[in-house]
Amino acid sequence: MEQHERIMAAVGAIRRAAPLLPKVGVVLGSGLGGFADSVTGAVAIPYGDIPHFKKVSVAGHAGRLLLGKVGGMPVAVLQGRYHYYEGHDIGDVVFPVRVLAKLGIASLLLTNAAGGIGSELRPGDLMIIRDHINLMGLNPLRGRNDERLGPRFPDMSAVYDPEFQDVIAAAQQEIGRTAIRGVYLALSGPSYETPAEIRMLAGLGADAVGMSTVPEAICARHMGVRVAGISCVTNLAAGISKQPLSHQEVTETADRVKSDFIRLLELVIPRMG
Ligand code: HPA
Repeated sequence: MEQHERIMAAVGAIRRAAPLLPKVGVVLGSGLGGFADSVTGAVAIPYGDIPHFKKVSVAGHAGRLLLGKVGGMPVAVLQGRYHYYEGHDIGDVVFPVRVLAKLGIASLLLTNAAGGIGSELRPGDLMIIRDHINLMGLNPLRGRNDERLGPRFPDMSAVYDPEFQDVIAAAQQEIGRTAIRGVYLALSGPSYETPAEIRMLAGLGADAVGMSTVPEAICARHMGVRVAGISCVTNLAAGISKQPLSHQEVTETADRVKSDFIRLLELVIPRMG
């Protein structure tokens, strides 16, 4: 079956389960799934019930699509994402975002947990992504291009919508946080980086490093969806602090900033319509 047919089969199943037409899409990153409770009147669809969605494996990822409202804005929230490091094909990683785009979202908020490289970043910071560097080793658009999705050579000169960056910055100030913008760099993982790799990534212009988001952002832009991104800095990158890295630290920090993260998204999402 062609990719476009698979996408439209998923769209059809979601429309039958929930009539709501979402305007904004949200992807909740590692340990950030708690925001799902802020979606009102939500219809929850487990990924397993959506045609062509894969099953989710990593701890901290629930694996369901929520359709409901946040501050009156109709939203589609992906609670749990597929990571390339899990062994999924990159087409399966970006499939849910493509489905949301065909479901009719005009904008997409991508969130993730990331390691802080920039000297101004501290664990617990919520960094506004202003650009990305794709070092995953692959591009999700490789292969035959389907013009029904987007152009062969999509522009990537402003992936993270400048207006949305300002919306997030204003919301940060409203909740009493300083707005920090930075460049997110994606590697495939799943091992964390070595200190030498982090020194290299700093030299390349990265402020934060993680294992997701970039393929989804590329596909959303390919399909003409406006994109915003927030990285929850859960730890300092390898070698920046003396401490060894652990997934536990990542989930603990994400949990610590949970209430600010939720307040931020509740302010930002209604302004992304
Ligand atoms: N490196 C890569 N991915 C991450 C990190 C990190 O330090 N923290 C959270 N996700």
